[in-house]
Amino acid sequence: MADASTFDQVEAAAAAVRSRCGALPQTAIVLGSGLGDFADTLTDAVSIPYEDLPHWPASKVVGHAGRLVVGTVAGGVAGKRVAALAGRAHVYEGHGLERVVFATRVMGRLGVRQIILTNAAGGINTGFAQGALMIIDDHINLMGTNPLVGPNDDRLGPRFPDMTEVYSTRLRALAEAAAKARGVAVTHGVYAALQGPSYETPAEIRYLRTSGADAVGMSTVPEAIAARHMGVEVLGISCITNMAAGILPQPLQHDEVLETARRVRGAFVSLLEGIIERL
Ligand code: HPA
Repeated sequence: MADASTFDQVEAAAAAVRSRCGALPQTAIVLGSGLGDFADTLTDAVSIPYEDLPHWPASKVVGHAGRLVVGTVAGGVAGKRVAALAGRAHVYEGHGLERVVFATRVMGRLGVRQIILTNAAGGINTGFAQGALMIIDDHINLMGTNPLVGPNDDRLGPRFPDMTEVYSTRLRALAEAAAKARGVAVTHGVYAALQGPSYETPAEIRYLRTSGADAVGMSTVPEAIAARHMGVEVLGISCITNMAAGILPQPLQHDEVLETARRVRGAFVSLLEGIIERL
């Protein structure tokens, strides 16, 4: 399969998932750094390690488990099958953008109607508190590249897809309603994506703030673009795990990112359940 096209590789992986996952999921959820535990809350679940799936890129970052779990959401959400992706491929690991969006495309070909992209992010908006959950209203792609660069495969989507509403107005309103009903505080904002892996400098954070960004991270945007290319509806949620560089008088540490994500795990899982309940 070394020379198989992206489309064939995506189809092969989708077929492998289909043959093992039981009832097909309607929603995919990509779990960000330290947020992978949500996958353990699913019932009637089939857990597939990424290495068992053909062509699937491995993620080796600490805090990313590397498995696909298809199951039913706990908390009385009858019959709602979801695919939880614990671990994602990042640009900073050296993956080409095509590899970074591979899982998203497999989900699209499996037939999911919506994808929920979650991440850990640094807070740029000084009104945010560490541990806040931010519904992504829009993004700024500062990765210097785009997952759709290269020949377009019309079976996936159009050459020049519209990005006027990457993050679905319908799903954002639904997330807001779920947050209210569950008593989970949420905020809204614009997510800027950089390649990483070095964190930003204080000057870069001031630049991003002036540019209209409220949070910064190293993921999500490629997947959101690939999902919209395929016509899949997107919801994005950032966990503000730390204030961005230069805001507080202390250096940034990945351990702090994971610790904050763990701290808000309960609220995050409750919010996700509330959202899926309403889909
Ligand atoms: N910057 C970039 N990515 C991040 C951050 C940050 O401050 N926190 C979590 N992911």
